[in-house]
Amino acid sequence: MKISKAPLITAAEIQTRVSALAGQIAADYCGKQLTLAIVLNGALFFAADLARHIQADVLLACVSASSYVGNRSSSKVRVITPDHHSINGRDVLIIEDIVDTGSTAQAIIEQLRIQEPASLALCTLLDKPAGRTVKYLPDYTGFTIENRFVVGYGLDYDGMYRHLPHIYTLE
Ligand code: IMP
Ligand code: MG
Repeated sequence: MKISKAPLITAAEIQTRVSALAGQIAADYCGKQLTLAIVLNGALFFAADLARHIQADVLLACVSASSYVGNRSSSKVRVITPDHHSINGRDVLIIEDIVDTGSTAQAIIEQLRIQEPASLALCTLLDKPAGRTVKYLPDYTGFTIENRFVVGYGLDYDGMYRHLPHIYTLE
């Protein structure tokens, strides 16, 4: 497995899009305190950049979800949610790296709903609608991409390539 020579999405393109998304989010949550529920580890870089661009009152919480072995999706998703008081009654925006089959997003939403947030939405850096096995449309999407496996800027293949500043396809 090797990564593509040229990036699919460059760091500069990511930053431009992240700043536009942050503006849209700040406008939508105007006057509210927003809790970003960051899905570890993939959304770390995206959430860090996004949070620093949002001109609003932002709180951070972390969610852990695991569903992948290598580059194959398994339908079983294990979710570890933040403690009750960081979600209950709050305006929560889930921050994901990528939505593929949609089962991880669905499982996280299902688990967080149990903690009764005031509102719950999801923002993903990347969306691969062609990979969908469950019906799901993210509230905010950075880039819609083709059904290819991508790495970099937080996204990994078996734990590797997360630290790369650009996003590449795996060949
Ligand atoms: P889903 O449950 O199939 O939607 O997959 C969501 C999770 O699978 C993401 O949060 C990623 O961790 C992982 N994933 C899906 N596609 C990719 C990819 O192209 N590169 C890296 N990770 C991926
Ligand atoms: Mg992930």
